[in-house]
Amino acid sequence: MRATVEKLSLSEISPKIMQSEIRSMTVECDRVGGVNLAQGVCDTEVPEPVVEAAIRAIHDGNNIYTRLDGITPLRQAISQKLERHNGMKADPDGEVLVASGATGALYAACLALLDPGDEVILFEPFYGYHLNTLMSVRAVPVAVPMAMHTWEIDLDALRAAITPRTKAILVNSPSNPCGKVFTLAELEAIAALAEEHDLFLFTDEIYEYFVYDGAKHISPATLPGMAERTITISGLSKTFSITGWRIGYLIADRRWLGSIAYFHDLTYVCSPSPFQYGAAAGLMELPDSFYTSMATEYQAKRDQMCSALTAAGLTPSVPPGAYYVLADVSSLPGATAKEKARNLLRDKKVAGVAGTAFFTGGRGENLLRFCFAKRDEDLKKACDLLRGKI
Ligand SMILES: Cc1ncc(COP(=O)(O)O)c(C=O)c1O
Repeated sequence: MRATVEKLSLSEISPKIMQSEIRSMTVECDRVGGVNLAQGVCDTEVPEPVVEAAIRAIHDGNNIYTRLDGITPLRQAISQKLERHNGMKADPDGEVLVASGATGALYAACLALLDPGDEVILFEPFYGYHLNTLMSVRAVPVAVPMAMHTWEIDLDALRAAITPRTKAILVNSPSNPCGKVFTLAELEAIAALAEEHDLFLFTDEIYEYFVYDGAKHISPATLPGMAERTITISGLSKTFSITGWRIGYLIADRRWLGSIAYFHDLTYVCSPSPFQYGAAAGLMELPDSFYTSMATEYQAKRDQMCSALTAAGLTPSVPPGAYYVLADVSSLPGATAKEKARNLLRDKKVAGVAGTAFFTGGRGENLLRFCFAKRDEDLKKACDLLRGKI
């Protein structure tokens, strides 16, 4: 006899987790042969020491599971780079987890630290994976809007959003999609609230090296008293252009790290072994000038992108960090941001993402996000297309 209640169904949360608009723009862009500035994939060159060490690791037989928190040379290299570049201290034995990307790190942290119904505050515009990861673990994302175009945070709104159910605040600096680099004063204010209400601070610092015009990246864990409550997440996907390798990391007090590492083990077992060797070599061998030249190079890409957008009548909010730009596209035909994105692709063969992907409550309809992490020839083509030169 058949059960009366239908059990072959998706979980309650599944229909709420939207397939990202970025993917569908990518498919559409391929169909029309356009330049894809929708996806945040840096297809620039991978540094040579990173490639060589990964290949060597495969030949040397490093193709099996690693320790659940990652290989020792990589944990040590991360710890040293944190001290050198971030002014942060983390014991490679117990405070560093090598994760399957920043994505895997955040997912494991949410599983280990959040209960269903816990509220987590994030700033809007936000990165869609942050929202969906929180929802996946049945936590409740609470979006606090930043001021349109200047992306200043509203401390009163932040304070008002904190309830007895709030467990954490999530900060993404430099930010995807708006490129905001949180200032010391802003981070201090957020840290003070986190301390006052006894909250975790989750940070996503994946774009830490992509800072322009003298902006300075600050790791919130370095603020006084914040190390014990900050879950620092970053990775090498962007810095070494290895998004497909799945190398990220998480730094936390050892009280939290063991459990986070165990949840990471349950979902991913470990980050890919040979690629861990590649990342370790990159961190150990590349000089500091590698990071500063990368920022200079991306600042030039940003300027090129912003001036082409301006010429096309799409006013950019010039980002001080990361490698995306949100542009005001009120002048484009279409009633919604999705329509505007499709019309731009049809008319200029350039794909961007509808701003609504990064906001709740219908905001973002007049915005598109463009990614400028592209090889010079592709970026030039996109800019020429926007200017109507091709
Ligand atoms: C803010 C942010 N965090 C994390 C990621 C993904 O990082 P990973 O490849 O290390 O999972 C991205 C990629 O677009 C991102 O924009």
